[in-house]
Amino acid sequence: MQMKIGIIGAGNAGKTLGSALASQGYSIMLGSRRPEKLTDWVQVEQADKKTIFLGTLSEAAAFGDFLIHAVTGREAIEALKQAGEENLHGKILLDVSLPIDFSEGRMRLFTSTGESLGERIQSTFPDAKVVKAMNHIAAGVMVNPNRIAGGDHDLFMCGNDGTAKQAVSALLKQAFGWKQIHDIGDISAAQATEGLALLASRVASVLGHGMMNFKVSH
Ligand SMILES: NC(=O)c1ccc[n+]([C@@H]2O[C@H](COP(=O)([O-])OP(=O)(O)OC[C@H]3O[C@@H](n4cnc5c(N)ncnc54)[C@H](OP(=O)(O)O)[C@@H]3O)[C@@H](O)[C@H]2O)c1
Repeated sequence: MQMKIGIIGAGNAGKTLGSALASQGYSIMLGSRRPEKLTDWVQVEQADKKTIFLGTLSEAAAFGDFLIHAVTGREAIEALKQAGEENLHGKILLDVSLPIDFSEGRMRLFTSTGESLGERIQSTFPDAKVVKAMNHIAAGVMVNPNRIAGGDHDLFMCGNDGTAKQAVSALLKQAFGWKQIHDIGDISAAQATEGLALLASRVASVLGHGMMNFKVSH
């Protein structure tokens, strides 16, 4: 039986990930504060025979054996509390969120030096197995790495639980075709993956589009 995946956050990233995973046969529930606003979208998706359910944040978290967190950074902790600590217990939580703020007219991180949103999430929900990955790339690249450079570019992943990281890596390779995924350590490395989003955003603005990623050569 295919894994059931609950997605907490049904914006651009949540919908893109949900649609792509459903097209690979995974059973998906997208969680939103107002799931009814997605009814038209889901009808179009399901016409393609994808299995996508809609629910509240807590329904999506309870549904998934494997969870993805894709809420805006400022609201992340609040949204995960709405999802319910008991529904996160013991589960992998792939976190693609970013602690970003555009209030000063440019992208900046709202976290302090020496911390990250990934660490905040892990320390607030110690029984979840938080794995941070893909936060620096556009959702369209997350689900289709082959659309640039024939897929010859790299992903970074971090988290405290080795088995959870292996499961995330296996899912991203199998579902989306990622080839190189670097395990860069425990969840404190989210400071680096979140910071990398600042660099990616600057590079994307020079390129004039966000369909880009980095490659590690050694
Ligand atoms: N889009 C990308 O290409 C991309 C790439 C890398 C990283 N990310 C990160 O992924 C996350 C989602 O990005 P996005 O582009 O999908 O954003 P988005 O389209 O603005 O969607 C934001 C989601 O956050 C939810 N949300 C906002 N405030 C909330 C609150 N107070 N309580 C509960 N839920 C709340 C919204 O819920 P409702 O449905 O209930 O309104 C919505 O589902 C962000 O952290 C972003 O930095 C996105």
